[in-house]
Amino acid sequence: MKVKILTVGGGAREHAAVEALYRSGAEIYAVMKNANPGIEARATEILLADETDVDKICEFAINHFVNYAFIGPEAPLAAGVVDALENIGIRCASPTKAAARIETSKTFMRELVQKHGISGNIRFATFDNAEGAIEYVKHVDHKLAVKPVGLTGGKGVKVQGDQLKNLDETIAYINQIFADSIGGGKVILEEKLEGEEFTQMVFTDGETVLPMPLVQDHKRAYEGDLGPNTGGMGSYSDKDGLLPFITAAERRQALDIVKDIIKALADEGCPYRGPMYGQFMLTKDGPKIIEINARFGDPEAMNVLTVLESDFATLVKGMATGKLKNDQAVFASQATVCKYVVPRGYGVHPEPGHEINVNAAGIQQCGAVFYYGSVDKQGDKLITGTSRSVGVVGLGDTLYDAEQNCEKALTYVKCDACAIRHDIGTQALLQHRIDHMKQIRGQ
Ligand code: AMP
Ligand code: GLY
Repeated sequence: MKVKILTVGGGAREHAAVEALYRSGAEIYAVMKNANPGIEARATEILLADETDVDKICEFAINHFVNYAFIGPEAPLAAGVVDALENIGIRCASPTKAAARIETSKTFMRELVQKHGISGNIRFATFDNAEGAIEYVKHVDHKLAVKPVGLTGGKGVKVQGDQLKNLDETIAYINQIFADSIGGGKVILEEKLEGEEFTQMVFTDGETVLPMPLVQDHKRAYEGDLGPNTGGMGSYSDKDGLLPFITAAERRQALDIVKDIIKALADEGCPYRGPMYGQFMLTKDGPKIIEINARFGDPEAMNVLTVLESDFATLVKGMATGKLKNDQAVFASQATVCKYVVPRGYGVHPEPGHEINVNAAGIQQCGAVFYYGSVDKQGDKLITGTSRSVGVVGLGDTLYDAEQNCEKALTYVKCDACAIRHDIGTQALLQHRIDHMKQIRGQ
């Protein structure tokens, strides 16, 4: 009998996960807000519902006798969907609410890392009132990243010298976080890091930790790393699992940090199961933690799941039941470049409601795959939503080939009111990253 897996989430990250489960021969039961056409095509049954509606999700899972569950986004984790499913006997390849605090509270993460003496931490201070925070920013002797403590969909962080041009803007943003209760209305002020960012994701059952290839995301909305932060405009990974600016030793340090965090969570009585996402800044002093997420990254999931050769349903079952084995995460030796097609204005004021046309056969013949994100079917047309519309992933023996294939494939996505960061994965931008890292290292 086929294994029945419940999935929660309707973005391109979840489409990539569903596609990997489908390849494994799993029977898929999908809960999502909007009917993602890619997920709908692979699922036996879908439920359109609020992804934090714990009761509806449990009822759907019971009615279909699902064996395991996999949760894509962070909001259902914060709402306790995993705890509720496990209470009714459905094992999840995603963390409980307590374990997900590693993402849902930036203070919890920093304090855990500090308490357990894990490396990669940075100077930070948390405040539950604007006055204390403002006093701190006036006197601190280094630049800061200003972050709401709770979830903000990846868009709440502002960095001095970047989005925050001066002290007045910093103070204004702190006041806004408290006045508008952004991310729960508490603030964490972190030392600003200089370097290159990278993502180390792993699969874990709480004990065994299996690394995925490194990925570099591009948060800024516009080419040349300009404009507001977004959920991520695109990403790339290389066939050796490294990135052009990082050494194998530095990668091991980052992986050790993630492993130490997983052990610390177990020691604290909230063992972590599921994919974990470590976002790091590679600095002149090695990898430092930017944030830890309790899930796959989006778009990063599209890079790694596209080249996952192992059976994803087996991984889900292994993570959910604490029986992950060391040889269960094998990836094809291929480079990937993912570029998101997003509605014009995404990152500031997205302009949804425009037609987008995806020629699947055309994309396939380019050595690429694609995943649907925030799009709605209206009759036989696809219409853009407010979030990222379609992720296109080019594959190749080299990053150059993967990028070229991605660009060729993108000509098969037609949308007049969309934007793409075409510079992602190009030789010019890769060289810029390598040169930047050399400069940071003082070479
Ligand atoms: P986050 O939502 O925590 O991933 O932050 C969004 C973006 O803000 C990151 O991708 C970084 O580019 C930037 N950022 C966050 N924390 C820091 C920091 N401590 N120093 C420098 N940049 C940061
Ligand atoms: N790519 C950033 C994130 O998923 O949080």
